[in-house]
Order: sequence, then C-alpha cells, then structure tokens
Amino acid sequence: MKFFIDTANLDQIREAQDLGVLDGVTTNPSLMAKEGITGTENVLNHYKAICEIVEDNVSAEVISTTYEEIIKEGEELAALNPKIVVKVPMIKDGVKAIKYLSGKGIRTNCTLIFSPGQALLAAKAGASYVSPFLGRLDDISHDGLQLIEDIRTIFDNFGYETQILAASIRSPLHIVNCAKLGADVITSPLAPILGLLKHPLTDTGLAQFLADHEKAAKK
Ligand code: E4P
Repeated sequence: MKFFIDTANLDQIREAQDLGVLDGVTTNPSLMAKEGITGTENVLNHYKAICEIVEDNVSAEVISTTYEEIIKEGEELAALNPKIVVKVPMIKDGVKAIKYLSGKGIRTNCTLIFSPGQALLAAKAGASYVSPFLGRLDDISHDGLQLIEDIRTIFDNFGYETQILAASIRSPLHIVNCAKLGADVITSPLAPILGLLKHPLTDTGLAQFLADHEKAAKK
C-alpha cells in the first residue's frame, strides 16, 4: 500500500520523506490556504517546491469548475512537473475533463468521492486515482470504511486499474483498516502515520531491554 501525506506543509512533507515511507503528497485548496499560500504564482511555486522533496505523485487540485477551464488549468498544472497528478472534483464537467486529460496521458485524481457510483464513473472516465473521503463520512455517521470496501469490490469485479486513494484519514486505525480492505493508497496527515509507530508494550519492552543491558554491563 502506498503512503501519501495530506498536507501542504513543507516541514511535515520533509519529515515523512525522511522517515523513508512516503510515496506522494496530496493537497487541496484548504490545505494551501492553511499554510498561507495564496495567489496563482505562489500556489504554482509551492507545488514545484513539493515536487523537489518527493519522488512522485503530487496531487495538485484545480479550482476551476467548467470543462474548458478544468482542462486548461489541468494541463498547466501537469506541465509544472511530471510528478504532478491533476486533482479534479467529482462533478459532471470534472468527469469529462478526466476523460480528456487521461486521453492526453495526464494522471488524474478524482476527489470528493462519497459514493461507490461516483467512484465507478471516475474509473470509467480513466481516473488514475479516486479519493473516497472516509473521515468526512464517519463525521456524519456514515460508514466510511464500507465505501472503501464497496469500491474495492466494484473495481475488482471489472479489473479497473484506477487506484483507490483513501482520503480524509483521521487515525492510525483508519490506515490499518484501509490496508485490510485493500485500498491501494492512503493519504493522511502526519500524526496518524506517526501514530502507527506506537505501542505501549514496545516502549516498556525497549526500556526493559536497555535496563538489562545496562545491568549486565556493570557486572
Ligand atoms: C484528500 O485528498 C483531501 O485532501 C483530504 O484527505 C481531506 O481530508 P479532511 O476531511 O481531513 O479535510
């Protein structure tokens, strides 16, 4: 399973990259705004900076909502760096744009997926990734993990190559459950990724090993 980090914060991207487990980055306009990145030129430069840190798979989201504008913006984003994956919202013009961009060999990530039918449409249009938002479904008492499972079943039924990019991850357990259900990728903030490291028995076990080593050295 691939690990993407869901942030526009360069320090956090570097930290995940240094850990040696990072396969990519996803951003969105809210995450960019959170880092204070505004204005087209600054946003484009920020994508370039992210591309310098990671090896591949940098999702850059369009802010256009009509077919012509999405494909124009998508082509501009893709031209920034071959690592860019154009993130397109699940709307009618977005689906059409995914079909066009994938036909041009530009990788796409269809975002804001909340139902299996939306994922099916995006896959048929040729999306490289679909991003089901499981945390936001959980937030409104819908079963986010069930959506991942349903999309996995549908894609496997027909051999779609579109990868399931489980998004809106809130906890380490979300990551583990996505792995169990066969999501191809998770995109998560840094904290849940680092949360995977933790187990109290690891901490007490290590403390014991080190104490025993110390004791034996003094004999
Ligand atoms: C997906 O690519 C989105 O950027 C992200 O996962 C949304 O997560 P949120 O629901 O925590 O905002």
